Amino acid sequence: MKNLMITGGAGFIGANFVLYVLNRYPDYNVVVYDKLTYAGNLDNLLTVKDHSHYHFVQGDICDTVVVNETVQKYDIDTIVNFAAETHVDRSIMNPDAFIQTSVYGTYVLLEAARKYKLERYHQISTDEVYGHIPPGYSSKETDNLVPRSPYAASKASADLLVQSYFITYNLPVTITRGSNNIGPYQYPEKVVPLFATNALDNEPLPVYGDGRQMREYQYVTDHCEAIDLVLHRGVIGEAYNVGTAVEMENIEMIDILLTTLDRPQSLIHHVKDREGHDRRYSLNIDKIGALGWEPRHTPREAIAQTARWYRDNEWWWRKIKSGAFKEYYEKQYGHRWQNK
Ligand code: NAD
Ligand code: TYD
Repeated sequence: MKNLMITGGAGFIGANFVLYVLNRYPDYNVVVYDKLTYAGNLDNLLTVKDHSHYHFVQGDICDTVVVNETVQKYDIDTIVNFAAETHVDRSIMNPDAFIQTSVYGTYVLLEAARKYKLERYHQISTDEVYGHIPPGYSSKETDNLVPRSPYAASKASADLLVQSYFITYNLPVTITRGSNNIGPYQYPEKVVPLFATNALDNEPLPVYGDGRQMREYQYVTDHCEAIDLVLHRGVIGEAYNVGTAVEMENIEMIDILLTTLDRPQSLIHHVKDREGHDRRYSLNIDKIGALGWEPRHTPREAIAQTARWYRDNEWWWRKIKSGAFKEYYEKQYGHRWQNK
């Protein structure tokens, strides 16, 4: 493993992974292949833009010609696929791009991996593929995939394709299924950066329903370490859950955010719930634990550290929130304020 093509590498987790790899493996070459959708942002990669082992290609993973050219040009031996449409609320408004990218795009990348006999194809997946989980149970990698939103269904479909390429063509694949990541460079549509930046501006926080839904909030660099471990020590053909083993209600996450940023509870506004809102995700992480991984941050530390990053990095998020984001916010939330 030496020449990595990191698709979706200009997004939140992908960019954090690029920074991590260039720092950890000075002899690896990293090619970021990214369409630069609204969520792709080269500001996330500013600190490595002149790095001699970093290259950027703007392209769509659905575009076979450009994908194949890139694999050949950079002598790629490994694809790590982060590229996806990633926001559940947007998938409810308009699922089309979710299906295109995660289903057809994953197929294009798998075909490239097969054609050029790559050493590894690694798929970045999510805990949402298991659907929502009853109290007292944590999802295992062998559980059925029961996705409940168009986003989750697009990701589950990609996982099934990846598994089929292992079984049918013996393609050397691995999959990681992460929980809710938080940290630097997360587009402020997701709950933690949205609420941190709203709170910093003394704007209300739109809490869906009763706010007692449960998530495992995970610091993004912990996820990056887990992906690294699976790339180097994971068993071919296997999926690995990457969570925190500590779940938290959204209202507790909000309390940590507000306390860290010294903002009042009065910013909390309960609004109309998300359609089909998954109540609880919980991952059993014994399998990756057996490879020697454990999270370095508790969810509490991860939330506080993330809140401080948004407080200290207005240069990054202010321009996003003042652009096309405003239109999205009005469309997504305009009706929610009156309509509980
Ligand atoms: P993100 O939305 O911040 O970034 C996605 C990136 O993919 C962007 O840079 C975008 O430009 C690019 N992209 C989208 N469509 C593309 C296409 N057709 N071709 C090429 N590039 C394209 O997402 P993220 O939060 O960093 O998530 C990355 C991956 O991790 C996704 O596959 C997501 O499903 C998965 N995941 C995310 C979380 C989370 O909490 N954010 C948790 C578990 C798994
Ligand atoms: P989100 O960050 O969208 O991640 P996901 O739904 O993929 O887990 O949302 C995390 C949780 O926060 C989820 O239970 C929905 C809730 N939420 C709100 O209460 N208000 C919001 O404005 C958003 C975006 C999410």
